[in-house]
Amino acid sequence: MVISQQEFLFSVIKRLDITKNILAAKIGVSLHTLNLWLLPEDSVEFVPMPNEIEEFIYKQLLCNISKSKKYSLRDNIALNGKNHLLSVDQFDRESLENFFRVADLMKPISRRQKISRILEGAVLGNLFFEASTRTRVSFGTAFCRLGGSVCDTTGFTFSSMAKGESIYDTSRVIGGYVDIMVVRHPEQGSVAEFSRATNIPVVNGGDGPGEHPSQALLDLYTIRTEFSRLGKSIDGSCVVMIGDLKYGRTVHSLLKLLSLYKGLKISLFSPPGLEMPDSIINYASVNGNCVDIKSSLEEGLDGVDVVYATRVQKERFTNPMNEYFDKKFQIDLSKINSNCKKDTIVMHPLPRDGRPGANDLSIDLNNDSRLAIFRQADNGIPIRMAIFAILLGVITWLIIHYAMYSGLYLLTLGLTILLSIVCNIVYLGFISL
Ligand code: NCD
Repeated sequence: MVISQQEFLFSVIKRLDITKNILAAKIGVSLHTLNLWLLPEDSVEFVPMPNEIEEFIYKQLLCNISKSKKYSLRDNIALNGKNHLLSVDQFDRESLENFFRVADLMKPISRRQKISRILEGAVLGNLFFEASTRTRVSFGTAFCRLGGSVCDTTGFTFSSMAKGESIYDTSRVIGGYVDIMVVRHPEQGSVAEFSRATNIPVVNGGDGPGEHPSQALLDLYTIRTEFSRLGKSIDGSCVVMIGDLKYGRTVHSLLKLLSLYKGLKISLFSPPGLEMPDSIINYASVNGNCVDIKSSLEEGLDGVDVVYATRVQKERFTNPMNEYFDKKFQIDLSKINSNCKKDTIVMHPLPRDGRPGANDLSIDLNNDSRLAIFRQADNGIPIRMAIFAILLGVITWLIIHYAMYSGLYLLTLGLTILLSIVCNIVYLGFISL
């Protein structure tokens, strides 16, 4: 679990809109036991909740809930009443669709076809304690496109953490300087720790091998956009995830998000030792979705609609084994041609490891239109703009701004037409004189 047990249980109570008593009855335990599970993890009386109960909650209670209409999208995805984005667990199907509608609104602004300054004066703290190019720059760009400003820190070396400062102190201090924080950190659960120390919204930009919610949202948005072009629907489609499924946080979040759809066939193929954790497979095996582990790359690629390749997360190993970089795990043009369809899309969160022997996604697919990786990366901007606008509660302003913009446009057009009519009448009047 990326979030703490306490946060998880409180979010279940909120999402189901029930009391603690009712939740205790639904999961078949006494209120006293539930109260012990609800204690903070550092409390002496804290008791960990059994895995079977967590599974029961996901499979029996959360899987079919439909959100009450009375909440805004921001309230619906809030965690324990706070406007953080730490995990894709915060979404259900309805809030996901609404989220994508906001991203659609952001697209013309992300391309500068329309201008918006709804975050004018706001400051983003972009705190990256792990390597990043795309995620850091696209979060920063997304904030600037909405009129805000960005303060960055990169790595431990140039931050006070190198002097022994705790996550708590860093988060408390930065929370007083900026309006929202994006944090990437090598420890799983660390971004949740940042969020507990502050009242400003915190976005998980990747917490070790835990989760990467903004990436999964942009990945799914890419699948949705590509499928609408190809006339396909996500429900009932076939997806294969390939590579380091154990440490790859993007596939953890994406598999969880895909579980909100129905009738999917999801295949997994990884080098031995890098398999997807069982907890995530269990999470996703709902709504008639079938998650299947394949024994060869070719079998995994066979007839799928989406190929999602990942890099071996070398930085998480003390000693990465050479077998992980074998050519038999590499996706290239010939394997795609022999096993996939004409309308299969090939995705990768990037970066792909281009060093000799890495055998990551091959560059021989670069000129093939099925390769969606750069369109996928582009979608990072509208998705991250949508995250900021939702968490900072400015969607209504954006819509009013849009309406005013269109209203002003119509008014200007109307006045221009009127003026040209008047000019023509005056001109004709002169001629007839
Ligand atoms: C991914 C990450 O950092 O988890 N990259 C990204 O954010 N686009 C994937 C990776 O590093 O392999």
